[in-house]
Amino acid sequence: MRTITDPRELQELCIQWRQQGLTIGLVPTMGFFHAGHLSLMDYVRPRCNRMIVTLFVNPTQFGPGEDLEAYPHDFERDSQLAKDQDADILFAPEAGAMYDSDHATWVNVPDLSTGLCGGSRPIHFQGVCTVVTKLFMLTQASLAAFGEKDWQQLAIIRRMVRDLNIPVEIHGRPIVREADGLAMSSRNAYLTEEERACAPAIHAGLEAAAALVRNGERDAETVKNFIRDRIGDGVPMGRADYIELVEPDSLKPVRNITAPVLAAVAVFVGRARLIDNQYIEV
Ligand code: PAJ
Repeated sequence: MRTITDPRELQELCIQWRQQGLTIGLVPTMGFFHAGHLSLMDYVRPRCNRMIVTLFVNPTQFGPGEDLEAYPHDFERDSQLAKDQDADILFAPEAGAMYDSDHATWVNVPDLSTGLCGGSRPIHFQGVCTVVTKLFMLTQASLAAFGEKDWQQLAIIRRMVRDLNIPVEIHGRPIVREADGLAMSSRNAYLTEEERACAPAIHAGLEAAAALVRNGERDAETVKNFIRDRIGDGVPMGRADYIELVEPDSLKPVRNITAPVLAAVAVFVGRARLIDNQYIEV
C-alpha cells in the first residue's frame, strides 16, 4: 500500500490506471477506523482492480463549535488497517492541499440537505458534497461505497451523482453495530462509561418502533413519540436533536405510514452527537 498526500499525484496515477483499463474503487472516510469502515473496504476490494481508501477530516463539513479539532485520530493504526484490507492507496491529504485559500466552488443538494441532520448542521452536507465530488474527480473511481449509518449523506450523494452525471456507481452498505446494538461510530470514543452503557437504547428504541409499525401502527406522530419516550428513558442524560419518520429516498416527512419509512434520530449524549436509523417495512 502506498500513502499519498498530494492530490495531483493521486489524480495522475488514477488517470494512468484508467488508461490501462483498470477499475478503481473508492472508500471515503475521516479515519479512526472501526468495523463499519472495514466492512466498506471488504465490500469494495473484490469489486475493483485498485482500491483507494481516503482519510481526510474534511474541515468544510464541520460547523463552528463542532468537533473538528477534537475529531479522534490514529494514523498509524488506520494505515495498518487499510493495508490489512489490501488497499492499494491510502490518500491522506492536509486540508491546505485539498482547499486553496481562495476556494470558491461548492456542491449543494438543498432539497435533501435541509431536514434531519441539515437542521442543526446547516453547512454540513455542502461540505460533504464538495469533498466527495473532489474525491471522485481525483480518483476517477467507477465504484464508491458509503454506509447506511449516514442515510441522509448516502441519499444526497446518490442524488448528486445522478444530477451531475458523475460516472461512478454508489453502493450503500448496512450499518455495522456493536454487540449491544450501538451503531459503530468514530464519535463513540467521546462517550463516558456511563453514557456508553446507555447508548444502545437508541437502537433498541428504533427496533421497538419498527415492531410497533409492523403490528399495525400507522400514525407517524405516535411512532415518533414512542421513540422519544424509549430513548428518553434509556438515555436519561441524552437530548434528542431530532426524531423523524421520512420517506427513504426523498427524505420528506411522513404523516401516515403507507409505505416503507425510515426512522432517523440524532441524540446528543455528553460530548457526542449520535445518529442512527432504521428502515421499516410495512
Ligand atoms: P466517516 O464518518 O469516517 O464515515 C466513512 C464511511 O463509513 C461513510 O460512508 C459512513 O457512512 C460509513 N460508516 C460509518 N459508520 C458506519 C457503520 N457503523 N456501519 C457502516 N458504515 C459506517 O462519512 C464520512 O466519514 C464523511 O462524511 C465522508 C463521506 C468521508 C466525507 O468527508
